[in-house]
Amino acid sequence: MVPVDSGAAFHYPRAGMALNFQHLTSTKQLSRRDADAILQHARLMERYLKEGAQEPRLPGKILAALFYEPSTRTRLSFETAMLRLGGQVITADGFQFSSLYKGETIEDTIIMVNQYADIIAMRHPEQGSADRAAAVSKVPFINAGDGPGQHPTQALLDLLTIERERGKIDGLRIAMVGDLKFGRTVHSLTFLLGLYNGVRFTYVSPKELVVPEKVTSFLKEKDIAYEETDDFNAALACDVLYMTRIQQERFTDRSEYERLKDSYVLRAKQLKGKDVSVLHPLPRVGEIDPDVDALPNAAYFRQAKNGVLIRMAVLDMLLQRGL
Ligand code: CP
Repeated sequence: MVPVDSGAAFHYPRAGMALNFQHLTSTKQLSRRDADAILQHARLMERYLKEGAQEPRLPGKILAALFYEPSTRTRLSFETAMLRLGGQVITADGFQFSSLYKGETIEDTIIMVNQYADIIAMRHPEQGSADRAAAVSKVPFINAGDGPGQHPTQALLDLLTIERERGKIDGLRIAMVGDLKFGRTVHSLTFLLGLYNGVRFTYVSPKELVVPEKVTSFLKEKDIAYEETDDFNAALACDVLYMTRIQQERFTDRSEYERLKDSYVLRAKQLKGKDVSVLHPLPRVGEIDPDVDALPNAAYFRQAKNGVLIRMAVLDMLLQRGL
């Protein structure tokens, strides 16, 4: 691999480090070597963009972006990533405008899209839909969020952001706040950070929205230190404060959402004198006051920008594997 900061003339590698899997559906499938390789590839992508592409990386390749649940960042950054690599994008969005609405199965949809595209990224409201899609896809498949399940490329861009903001990953104290029950980014990021040494977790939520058993059983199995509390002050003492919104769309009882939605609100005055990096997968709906945005702690817009680099890296690595 080319050392990013060597200052030497940059020769972009035709084929970088390969991943030993075809589909990316969960951060649980990643090793630390995989995660480090994707972050390294993302840094190469940044350099590729900064220094100007001599030739497109993925000419003639088509990404199918299937978004059956709302998205702004994930969809636009996947599309930007593919276009920056010199590929093209076809899209299907809105459940009601797709044949899923007419009763077509996920499997049939994916087999069909295999006839048109070289790689697929899909967001779908059902947990487990990504595994079903990957099971029948012959072209690389990427989970762009499956209900309350997983969101692996979000976790990878979170990881890159944490490394950039803090200068390291090992040994950090990570607080996750808000909807930890339905928050797929919380689940995916915990599994990913669990690959690093000495990372400790503080989960802050109302009792109705605590981290699910699939996360706590993972932490216990790996002997990773964690605490669960409803005290926001515990989060402010950590190195990274990962805020999440209470997710209206996961509630069947609207009054329950109304009761819980303002459980935690971060304001600038709470960060005075604190060396904590504030991340959020976004969108926010009130849990971070805009007065935080101007503080150096606020990393969430830099985090969103890192999404393009990570998605370029994943698209490039999965498609290079097939060259
Ligand atoms: N973070 C994230 O997944 O944002 P979108 O829902 O806008 O894609």
